[in-house]
Order: sequence, then C-alpha cells, then structure tokens
Amino acid sequence: MKKRIVLLPGDGIGREVIYSTKVILNVIAKRFHYTFEFIEMPIGGEAIDQYNIPLPEVTLEACQTADAVLLGAVGGPKWDSLPAPIRPEKGLLEIRKKLGLFANLRPVKSFSALLHASPLKEKFIKDSDLLIVRELTGGLYFGKPSERRNNDKAVVDTLYYERYEMERIVEKAFQFARSRKKHLTSVDKANVLESSKMWREIVKEKSKAYPDVTVEHMYVDAASMKLITNPSSFDVIVTENMFGDILSDEASVLTGSLGMLPSASIRSDSFGLYEPVHGSAPDIAGKGIANPLGMILSAALMLRFSFGLEMEATIIEKAVNHTLLDGYHTPDLHIENGRIVSTDELVARIADK
Ligand code: NAI
Ligand code: MG
Repeated sequence: MKKRIVLLPGDGIGREVIYSTKVILNVIAKRFHYTFEFIEMPIGGEAIDQYNIPLPEVTLEACQTADAVLLGAVGGPKWDSLPAPIRPEKGLLEIRKKLGLFANLRPVKSFSALLHASPLKEKFIKDSDLLIVRELTGGLYFGKPSERRNNDKAVVDTLYYERYEMERIVEKAFQFARSRKKHLTSVDKANVLESSKMWREIVKEKSKAYPDVTVEHMYVDAASMKLITNPSSFDVIVTENMFGDILSDEASVLTGSLGMLPSASIRSDSFGLYEPVHGSAPDIAGKGIANPLGMILSAALMLRFSFGLEMEATIIEKAVNHTLLDGYHTPDLHIENGRIVSTDELVARIADK
C-alpha cells in the first residue's frame, strides 16, 4: 500500500504534534511494509509569513491530490492583530470548505487510565465509546442573510439546509453505525423546528436500507442531559451543524483533557482531513511538553477511515492506552502514581508498544 499524506503542521504545538505523529506512522509503515509519502506544506501563520495568506494555492493543490491530510493547529499571538480575512484561522475554515468536507467526526472514548481525570464520576464515563457525526458545511452557521433589523432592535439568522445535505450526512452516519455497535441516535428538535422535521423524515427514510441498525430519535435538550448521565448508552450520534458543535464539546469532558481529542473531517470518497481538537497552545509551544495524543489518535482515524486500515488504527489506540496505563503522560494529564515525561519520550514509548 502506498499513500500520499500532506502534513500541515501550522503553528505553535501544531508542529510538535505533527512530527510526533510522523514517528508513529513510520513505525506502522515499517512494520506492515506500507509506503507513506509525507509532503509538508504551510498553513496558518506560517503561510502568512511566507505567502501573505493563510491558505496558499500550493497548499490547497497538494491537498487536492493527496490521499489524506494531517493538520496540527494554526494561530498564535504573532498574527492576532491581523484583519479577519488574513488571520491563520481563516485558512482552516477555507480548507474544509474548499475540500468539500461536509462530515465532522468526533469519536469520544474514555481511556481506562484516565477515568478519574474527568470531572464526571468514573461510573458514568466507564466504557463510553461514542462517535458524533456532525454536519459541517450547512445550517445556521452558513445562513444567509444574517442581518440586524430596525436599527439594532431585531436580528435574523437563517437556518438553511438542502435535502441532499441532510441525506448525505445521515447516510454516512448509518454506515458508521453499521460498522460499530449498530445503534444510531439522531438528534434534532423536531417538536419545534421545520428543518428538524425534514431531518427526522430523512432519517426514517434512510433507516429502511439499514434494518440491522437500531434508530433512536432524541431531542437535543434530552440528548445533552443523557450525554452526561449515561454516555455509554450511545454508539453513533448524528446531528446538524450547531447541535453537533455544542454536543461534541460537551462530550469532550468525558475524556479528561483537551489534548486527548482527535477529529476527522470527511466527504463521500475516502479522502479526509484529520486534526486534533485543540489549538496551537502558544503558552507551551517549544517546551517539548505538548500532549501529542489528540494528533496521534487523529492519524489512527486516518488509517481507519481513509485507508481502511482498521487493525493498524486499533494498534495505535491500544499502544496509547497501554502507555497511559503504564503511567506515562504529559503534564496536562493527571494519572495517579504516574510519571510526567516529555512529548518525545511519550512518543518513543508508544512507538515501542
Ligand atoms: P488551545 O487549544 O491552543 O489551548 C488551550 C489550553 O489547553 C492551553 O492552556 C494549552 O496549553 C492547553 N493545550 C491545548 N492543547 C494541548 C496539548 N496538546 N497538550 C497540552 N496542553 C494543551 O486554545 P487557545 O489557547 O484558545 O488558542 C490558542 C491559539 O490556537 C489561538 O491562536 C487560536 O485561534 C488557535 N486555535 C486553533 C485551532 C486549530 O487550529 N484547530 C483550534 C483552537 C484554537
Ligand atoms: Mg465548538
């Protein structure tokens, strides 16, 4: 197997976690005789310094011809005073949109070594292993027009979805549910919103093709409560853009640290962009203490979703879990009787596993 992977390290700890991840991918490549070709391109602040724009054409072109993209993080105080269109974060929004990445996946899995790291009680989060499938390029966040009316006395935002946008994300979610525990929770607000009524109709229609998947419809308010009180009752959650944004941040509490969370942004083919949920962490950049696990787990998602390498993805996830169980961790985590190590040492230990 030969794959072209574009690396977009970006800024701050983005660079550190990308290079850590490359180490792990090289171990996998060597062990299983795969060829991973890495092409490093600039994005964010680094690209602004070189090209005066956050997403240069050369970077976009490299991504368009790659099998997958790994992105570290963008942004930092150096570029904070720039106007919005040329800020580092704009590069991120632009690349997702230009690559047509309509589905955002955020798997939330509690690692046994970190159960007490969550502010929630251990018994609640134990065994929670869920996948949030969020629509990423439509809905309220892309509504036009958004406007203020009557001299600031009123305001309007529009929630607009085309049927095909809902169909394709729901279809994706059914496919994921089929490959997991075969349980899909569709989250909406169909008692109030017209868009949610159409959403629910579509989920019911699509479910006919997936008789093996059990479907549950849940209002978003109830879902937000159940995520905290009984997270292990979920398998796959599918929802529209804003509900998914809020629920996935809520669910991140289950894992213990921002540095642990991976994400994938995908579309209908096997291509995807994989990035940790955290930002460029300028406060710890260059100190060699960044937690690389969110990025490394994102690479595992790449192997699983873009390359179909389920076993290799699982190997990475198990190596991470076992390294944590051995007590090794970066300073952002807390493990009882554990040992704080540098980013490089943690990576070396995972590579060993
Ligand atoms: P942040 O996620 O960079 O950091 C928040 C806090 O968590 C900091 O104390 C940081 O040290 C810590 N942290 C984050 N990731 C960590 C890791 N892997 N290991 C250890 N500690 C970690 O968010 P913040 O501070 O709001 O933003 C910093 C910069 O990052 C800003 O320029 C922001 O715009 C950008 N940003 C970029 C994102 C991206 O590229 N996807 C996402 C969020 C923010
Ligand atoms: Mg959010």
